Amino acid sequence: MIRPRCVVLAFALCLASPTAPASETDADCLMCHADRDLTSASGKTLFIDENRYGLSIHGQAGLSCVDCHADLAKVEDFPHAEKIEPVDCSLCHEAEKSAVAASVHGRPHQAANASIVVSCKECHGTHDIRKKDDFDSPVFAINIPDTCERCHLGLVQTKRGGDFIRVYNESVHFKAAKKSGLSVSATCATCHGAHDVRAAADPESRVGRKAIIRTCGRCHAWIERDYLEGVHGKAHVKGLENVPVCTDCHTEHAIQTAETLSSSVYATRVASVCSRCHDDENLARQFGLITSRLRTYSDSFHGTASRFGATRVANCASCHGFHDIRNSADPRSSIHPANLSATCGRCHAGAGPNFAKGKIHVVSEKTEAKGAYIAKIFYITAIGGLISLFCLFIAVDLARRARTRWKAKKSP
Ligand code: HEC
Ligand code: HEC
Ligand code: HEC
Ligand code: HEC
Ligand code: HEC
Ligand code: HEC
Ligand code: HEC
Ligand code: HEC
Ligand code: HEC
Ligand code: HEC
Ligand code: HEC
Repeated sequence: MIRPRCVVLAFALCLASPTAPASETDADCLMCHADRDLTSASGKTLFIDENRYGLSIHGQAGLSCVDCHADLAKVEDFPHAEKIEPVDCSLCHEAEKSAVAASVHGRPHQAANASIVVSCKECHGTHDIRKKDDFDSPVFAINIPDTCERCHLGLVQTKRGGDFIRVYNESVHFKAAKKSGLSVSATCATCHGAHDVRAAADPESRVGRKAIIRTCGRCHAWIERDYLEGVHGKAHVKGLENVPVCTDCHTEHAIQTAETLSSSVYATRVASVCSRCHDDENLARQFGLITSRLRTYSDSFHGTASRFGATRVANCASCHGFHDIRNSADPRSSIHPANLSATCGRCHAGAGPNFAKGKIHVVSEKTEAKGAYIAKIFYITAIGGLISLFCLFIAVDLARRARTRWKAKKSP
């Protein structure tokens, strides 16, 4: 946001000097600063490229040097003082300043990152600042990953280490942006925000478990709708933890199409994604779910073939769907008895009602438990009994030998 006063000021400056972007004072400054060899006492170059500045948004808007270097506005004796105040962009961009100040970048950092300052110029530059839709801007959508990664690959220490961000550079979103030039693809800033970046645990974060559905759904509209109609989405809206959100199944930075071998939802990997929860005893107890989904699936023809890498056999998602998953009692569920022949029929041409009859997850939980229990008791009894008998046999044998030896000693 630009304060109106500043726009008026910029306009006035523009009108005052329509041909020469440099104003009276600019010429003063450039008298020295257009010198390529000018360096500070510490050796830093102080050369300002007038042409480059002229192409920047501020040069175009007719800002003069002292609009930003405000403490030099009243100086008439040059050379000016050695130490001058750092530029305060919020003179004209107040909203951005307060957003950054409240973000994870503006708040005190963890000790390991304490020396890293994240100010406007780190993301925007200084004298060559461009509009965000200028291809050469460091914050042009497709350039944003490079801008954030300058710090986030290696320099910044986070709880999760470094490499969890690097995988973004192989993701479908990165490729869509960099290769296809899709400036509407997901970049760091579309998911995290630009100025109001928050830690994931912050309730106001756009990438926290609560908000992530909306963040992805801004672009993947129908998928958000389907998800919210399914059993997982309904539970999520109720505020229940432990139901999957987009990133539990897709990961956050390594997102790929389902056809990509490394995708978390590649056909042969789906079973393990679902089973992380559906074979979890604690979760099952909490939600009254039946477990052993993975084992029963693995025992089936589909599961066995999938373990050997077959991608055309059914995985959990082929039968249950993936975003609008529903309970089998729901008439709209793909596994509702009335819909099963259609569900199987997608792959088994001509599958009638009989084809889908009988349990899919073959081993029923209760009988399985009973059977296992009986088997366990049998084995414990049998093995325990055998060991006891064996010990008894050894003991009796030892005692017999000892007695014979004792007897032999006694009678010469
Ligand atoms: C007579 C030459 C001269 C003129 C005119 C001049 N400067 Fe400088 N400027 C210098 C020199 C020399 C330094 C280096 C001071 C040092 O660090 O030793 C410098 C340093 C600077 C710095 C860096 C200070 C820092 O802390 O690193 C800024 C910013 C700057 N000048 C802006 C301006 C602006 C804006 C104008 C016009 C209003 C201007 N200068 C006019 C000579 C000049
Ligand atoms: C949009 C604001 C803005 C404008 C306009 C601007 N500067 Fe700067 N300038 C900065 C920032 C930001 C820095 C980095 C130091 C800081 O944070 O104060 C800087 C630094 C400098 C430095 C120190 C060397 C360097 O590159 O870090 C010089 C010299 C300088 N400016 C001169 C000029 C001159 C001359 C003009 C006019 C042609 C000008 N500036 C216009 C924002 C501006
Ligand atoms: C962590 C990097 C980062 C920092 C720090 C940062 N910006 Fe930005 N800024 C961005 C990105 C990314 C965009 C583009 C947002 C978009 O595409 O919607 C942007 C956009 C802008 C815009 C364009 C208007 C808009 O919001 O769409 C302005 C103005 C701006 N920033 C000013 C500032 C100022 C002033 C500061 C310092 C107070 C600052 N920025 C700090 C990354 C940053
Ligand atoms: C004296 C007022 C002033 C100061 C100080 C100032 N700007 Fe600007 N800024 C403007 C004006 C005016 C525009 C042009 C607005 C337009 O054309 O839409 C602008 C535009 C921008 C844009 C492009 C916005 C877009 O639409 O994408 C960015 C980014 C930006 N400024 C960042 C900065 C940063 C970073 C600083 C500090 C280094 C800074 N500005 C300092 C007045 C200022
Ligand atoms: C100048 C370096 C720098 C740049 C550029 C930068 N960051 Fe950061 N970032 C940091 C630092 C430092 C932290 C603070 C970590 C801490 O609190 O210790 C941080 C923290 C974060 C966090 C929270 C991490 C956590 O573990 O809590 C996120 C998310 C984040 N940045 C995203 C971004 C995005 C998105 C961009 C680009 C728009 C970006 N950063 C650009 C330095 C940078
Ligand atoms: C498709 C959305 C998306 C994109 C694109 C994305 N992120 Fe993330 N990012 C997330 C999600 C979701 C999390 C995990 C939040 C959690 O831990 O629950 C995350 C976590 C992070 C964290 C750790 C935050 C914390 O508080 O632990 C950092 C730092 C980060 N991302 C930086 C980046 C950078 C830099 C880029 C660009 C190269 C980027 N992200 C691109 C969604 C995204
Ligand atoms: C329970 C796990 C799960 C959740 C939660 C989930 N997905 Fe998916 N998603 C999948 C699976 C599995 C596929 C791949 C299906 C296939 O083989 O085509 C998929 C496919 C996709 C596709 C590709 C389109 C297609 O139909 O193949 C997109 C885009 C997508 N998901 C986005 C999202 C978004 C956005 C969210 C959150 C609103 C989300 N997903 C939540 C498991 C999930
Ligand atoms: C800013 C918009 C945007 C956001 C936000 C976004 N995506 Fe995407 N997504 C895209 C675009 C664009 C593509 C690439 C489509 C292509 O290349 O065909 C894509 C592709 C995908 C694909 C592969 C689709 C396929 O055809 O198989 C999945 C899966 C996906 N996104 C999941 C997510 C998830 C999960 C989130 C949230 C963490 C998310 N996306 C956030 C725009 C977005
Ligand atoms: C993060 C954990 C998690 C993941 C991953 C997950 N689920 Fe779920 N799922 C749940 C929870 C919790 C419920 C119970 C929701 C409720 O009852 O409100 C549930 C409910 C279900 C139901 C309805 C069960 C019933 O008895 O009503 C089906 C079917 C289901 N999930 C299938 C899947 C499939 C298929 C996948 C993989 C594509 C999957 N789930 C991935 C946690 C998960
Ligand atoms: C060949 C199709 C098919 C495959 C593959 C499949 N399921 Fe099922 N699933 C069903 C059918 C049909 C039912 C309902 C009848 C039953 O329990 O057998 C069901 C029931 C369930 C239920 C109980 C929910 C309810 O509404 O009764 C859950 C949870 C579940 N499956 C999860 C999974 C998981 C996790 C996987 C992968 C490891 C998977 N399923 C693989 C067809 C399948
Ligand atoms: C995603 C596709 C797909 C779906 C959906 C699917 N199957 Fe299969 N199934 C296969 C493939 C591929 C084979 C391997 C044998 C073949 O080519 O016919 C197979 C094999 C089988 C077999 C063992 C071999 C045979 O042909 O007798 C049975 C039984 C079976 N499926 C039952 C079902 C039932 C019941 C359903 C629905 C609840 C179902 N399948 C849904 C792809 C699928």
